[in-house]
Amino acid sequence: MAASPRLEALVSQVPQRQFGQLDLHGSVIGLGTVKWGRNQKVKYAPFELPSDETLVQLLDTAESLGINVIDTAPAYGIAEERVGKLLQGRRDRYLLMSKVGEEFANGESTYEFSAESVERSIARSLQRLHTDRLDLVMLHCQPDDLSAITGSPALETLAKLKAKGMLRYYGVSSMTLEGGLKALELSDAVMVAWNFEYRAQEEVIRQAGKLGKAALLKRALLSGNLHPAGTGKNLVETCVHAALDLPEVSSLIAGTINVAHLRENAEAAMNWSGKA
Ligand SMILES: NC(=O)c1ccc[n+]([C@@H]2O[C@H](COP(=O)([O-])OP(=O)(O)OC[C@H]3O[C@@H](n4cnc5c(N)ncnc54)[C@H](OP(=O)(O)O)[C@@H]3O)[C@@H](O)[C@H]2O)c1
Repeated sequence: MAASPRLEALVSQVPQRQFGQLDLHGSVIGLGTVKWGRNQKVKYAPFELPSDETLVQLLDTAESLGINVIDTAPAYGIAEERVGKLLQGRRDRYLLMSKVGEEFANGESTYEFSAESVERSIARSLQRLHTDRLDLVMLHCQPDDLSAITGSPALETLAKLKAKGMLRYYGVSSMTLEGGLKALELSDAVMVAWNFEYRAQEEVIRQAGKLGKAALLKRALLSGNLHPAGTGKNLVETCVHAALDLPEVSSLIAGTINVAHLRENAEAAMNWSGKA
């Protein structure tokens, strides 16, 4: 029989790390919410958007396992609205991260990094998420990430909004090695594609550690290709342990709408033998 959430909480928790030298302490596994709100033009196998009931179960399970990081974005369809609605009453127990710059409508992504659009986007995220402050906001970059990082006023606009108290920290979900390194010079955090098979941007993660900045991982679970055809092997533990072996990694943002998968990811983090 499965342990009750209360018992589970007493038994084991996902380890936490300080995010670089920032005043943020979060679980090494975070909840990614693309699949909470968008099932068009995504790289995952086809799926139905989850019910509210499933999402509440995911949040309850996350909480009982000590997972306290949620990553969302305006470009994830209705994900921000759903996170906001379902987090009411427990928002303060989470580090809440969102993004600016990408919009997804009528099946297409568009990008805008003007000061006005960044301000508008943050105001809308605060409203949708029913909060008065975001813990971390990332530029949601297109493949040419430097055009947003150095060729737009987006980061300086986020700095102004930080000074006004609308967000605690800001950074860049980068696409290139150059973009990630530049982002670290100009902001508090990066979100980088990394997994044990794809290490091309590992230097960004190492540099984040040297500078005391936060480094979050995307694609760390091979975008879900965890049972490669014919191998019969589940790679979850390999993925999670490889990521946690990098001391500079703040949190691995794992996208899932499946409670059993969430538990499996959490258990892999709990089984990791290193020191958080
Ligand atoms: N540009 C950006 O800023 C950006 C880009 C991509 C992603 N992200 C963020 O990162 C999060 C993660 O997304 P990702 O695309 O990088 O993918 P990922 O986390 O590497 O993989 C997600 C996929 O893995 C599956 N999965 C998760 N745990 C599993 C398990 N234990 N066993 C089998 N399958 C499992 C999920 O399916 P189930 O739902 O069936 O578990 C989902 O289809 C997103 O939700 C988002 O928050 C940000």
